Amino acid sequence: MKCNWAERWVVNNPFRVIEQRIEIKKLRRMSPLEPGFTALEIGCGRGAGAGIILDTFRPRLIYTTDLDVDMLDKARGYVRPEKMGRIRLVAADGSSLPFKTGSIDAVFGFGVLHHIPDWRRAVGEAARVLKAGGTYFFEELYPAVYQNFITKHILAHPREDRFHSRDLRDALSVAGLSLGRYGEWKGLGIVGAAVKEIL
Ligand SMILES: C[S@@+](CC[C@H](N)C(=O)[O-])C[C@H]1O[C@@H](n2cnc3c(N)ncnc32)[C@H](O)[C@@H]1O
Repeated sequence: MKCNWAERWVVNNPFRVIEQRIEIKKLRRMSPLEPGFTALEIGCGRGAGAGIILDTFRPRLIYTTDLDVDMLDKARGYVRPEKMGRIRLVAADGSSLPFKTGSIDAVFGFGVLHHIPDWRRAVGEAARVLKAGGTYFFEELYPAVYQNFITKHILAHPREDRFHSRDLRDALSVAGLSLGRYGEWKGLGIVGAAVKEIL
């Protein structure tokens, strides 16, 4: 589900960029990767995260995707021109990714799963496109943040089948993603790295 005006204001904001810088550095400490890999970001918004991923993890290429083509247009304008050579902007639904199975080294998703009605399927898609041993890096919020007595009137999210900590960790496990290091604000959200098991 696309962001409404209120959430666009929250995510297209300099404070969000500062927060993402801190989180992406934290993710790199959790699971450092050798530079030169192929990355995919789902729900990129205006593309701030992709730029920070390029600076911090130094992938060879990042497929930067979003369901909302307006967001991709914003990303086209926001990302610095010198970085565009390593970015491919693609319109894509996180629950049905147009990428080959086992083709990506690292999948990133910041605040996107809780926008997806069938979020379990999206976790499965992240796992499907990853190579064995590849890493899914994520930051997600729980309903206490986006569906509390105030935010449920201001923000727009799917209402049914929302996930809390245990649901998300179970879905990762079902998808064959082994959660390694993570940081959780109890009841509010999680930042973590999960590795696709090598069978
Ligand atoms: C809360 S914003 C986060 C944007 C950015 N990742 C950030 O952290 O600032 C959620 C983003 O997910 C996108 N989105 C929503 N549903 C999606 C879906 N099914 N597949 C891919 N992207 C989706 C929205 O268009 C929006 O850009």
